[in-house]
Amino acid sequence: MSTDLFSPVTVGDMTLANRMVMAPLTRNRAGEHNAPHDINVTYYQQRATAGLIITEATQVSPEGVGYPGTPGIYSDEQVAGWKKITDAVHAEGGHIFIQLWYCGRVSHPDLLPDNQTPVAPSAIQPLGEAVTFDGMKAFVTPRALEKNEIPGIIAQYKHAAEMAKKAGFDGIEVHAANGYLIDQFLRDGSNQREDHYGGSVENRMRILNEVLDAVIEVWNSSRVGVRFSPENSFNDMSDSNASKHFSYFVSQLNTRNLAYLHMLEGDMMSKSTSVDYRALRASYNGLYMANCGYDKARANQSLSNGDSDLVAFGVPFLANPDLVYRYQQDLALNDADSDTFYGGTEHGYIDYPFFGQMTT
Ligand code: PHB
Repeated sequence: MSTDLFSPVTVGDMTLANRMVMAPLTRNRAGEHNAPHDINVTYYQQRATAGLIITEATQVSPEGVGYPGTPGIYSDEQVAGWKKITDAVHAEGGHIFIQLWYCGRVSHPDLLPDNQTPVAPSAIQPLGEAVTFDGMKAFVTPRALEKNEIPGIIAQYKHAAEMAKKAGFDGIEVHAANGYLIDQFLRDGSNQREDHYGGSVENRMRILNEVLDAVIEVWNSSRVGVRFSPENSFNDMSDSNASKHFSYFVSQLNTRNLAYLHMLEGDMMSKSTSVDYRALRASYNGLYMANCGYDKARANQSLSNGDSDLVAFGVPFLANPDLVYRYQQDLALNDADSDTFYGGTEHGYIDYPFFGQMTT
């Protein structure tokens, strides 16, 4: 029988019921103190038939925040909120990883403790605007991290990994994509450091390796995933040779026996791609999770060709809590309402109908 979206898959000592992953999706609906609350429990529970849910990006510390209304995983109140979510997902037979996030240069003083300046590998102001409590404001010039501040950031990831364990997650995903702090170190458009965190690919990968070393003291490596986006220009990112550099980064992950490598195969800002993802996949010896505009047909083609082991779906899962059932039965999908993607209440969040349910 050929592998398709509905065949189970073993990830370390865990068996996922199918290969459909709910991609991490920022929804800006956390409760007070950036803690998950009731509507977040309903939202994830509704989608628990996914083989694996990866939560929305979740800041590891108050300094890691970059948007209003995003959840954290550093306080007891946040752990208690997440515990309700992991319990609800597990009660439905699902699995859930939390995505650990530190925004870095695309945050804004308005969002940070004591209105501090966002940090980054280098003091390079990105083009674009941050989302603040008072609307959009131009990104500021970040402050380049001192070398002796980096251990403090690694410690925040380790603490978040410990809190994720207390919250009952099945594992964690280290967000090393989409122009946030770790990705800012990986790609040379945002990293012009001259110390041993910049310059060569070895140096640019150092912070990710240190984060992985730290979180693997908390979690077995088979419960840790990593997300990359080699050519995503979102957040004003660029790299002089994404194919070459990311083939090095991927090759380095081969030694780690991770849960999976999660690849955003393209550019959120344009349709064109220049990186050979099949070659990257072929060079990786663990489970490979593909993401970026897949539908059922393309996902099944990719799985049966051996070009991926898992496929993550974003917008389709957002708009279809029962996406697994709909794909299994070849049923029509709900349309997604982009006006309610970010922020708001129940509407556009937990009121997408299951198949056959009447809309009110
Ligand atoms: C977003 O808020 O737009 C966002 C957050 C995390 C990502 C990508 C986009 O990885």
